[in-house]
Amino acid sequence: MDLVIVDTYEDMSRVAADQIEAVIADDAACVLGLATGSTPIGLYADLVADCAAGKVSFADVTTFNLDEYRGLAHDHDQSYHYFMADNLFDHVDIDPARTHVPDGFDPDADAACAAYEEAIEAAGGIDIQLLGLGHNGHIGFNEPAASFPVATHCVQLTESTIQANSRLFDSIDEVPREAYTMGIGTIMKARRILMVVSGEDKAEILEKCLFGPVVPEVPASALQLHPAVTVVCDAAAGARCR
Ligand code: F6R
Repeated sequence: MDLVIVDTYEDMSRVAADQIEAVIADDAACVLGLATGSTPIGLYADLVADCAAGKVSFADVTTFNLDEYRGLAHDHDQSYHYFMADNLFDHVDIDPARTHVPDGFDPDADAACAAYEEAIEAAGGIDIQLLGLGHNGHIGFNEPAASFPVATHCVQLTESTIQANSRLFDSIDEVPREAYTMGIGTIMKARRILMVVSGEDKAEILEKCLFGPVVPEVPASALQLHPAVTVVCDAAAGARCR
């Protein structure tokens, strides 16, 4: 595992964007695994700027996102489809047909999740999977649990996640109760993993994830078993890892 601790959020974003651009430089038709959340917003902005400057092209790139709420229309402003369009896809030269986000609007959870796994396989697997880190160690929507979920599946959101997300919706009743997410097994199959972590509120969980026991109660601890992980964090998040 490579741990890169830089000073600021902007530095973290730059280093992570460079890593993704290096994968694309190596193989213009690579497969990227992408994440939503606040942490990758800066690196997506860097990718957009570099694409506009002609430094990187997404013309032949394929993408698969980690997760999506169940039951939200793709154009709902809290859907991850919307987030990705808004932060990356609408601003780079990617072919929309090659972008994939779990179809949260498909009411058949088993079929939607199985189709997602098959699509990743059919694309040749993920070359580099970008991850953020939840405060409780979650990656994707894989929350602390008694075992590591293997494949893409439907999860019930915890009451605390529903409460936390309610600030983004008009009322708590509108907050989705379920989501579709890649499993830990799906994530671990990626050939490389790039996790970005920012802020002092993530310092404790980052230390646990990198140096604590590998247990499903800290889902991101599974990354210790992956052969090619790079964690890029700012100084605040990395404070307990120096
Ligand atoms: C997003 C995702 C989540 C986030 C995590 C951290 O697609 O799967 O696991 O990466 O919740 O979120 P932020 O970056 O907002 O702290």
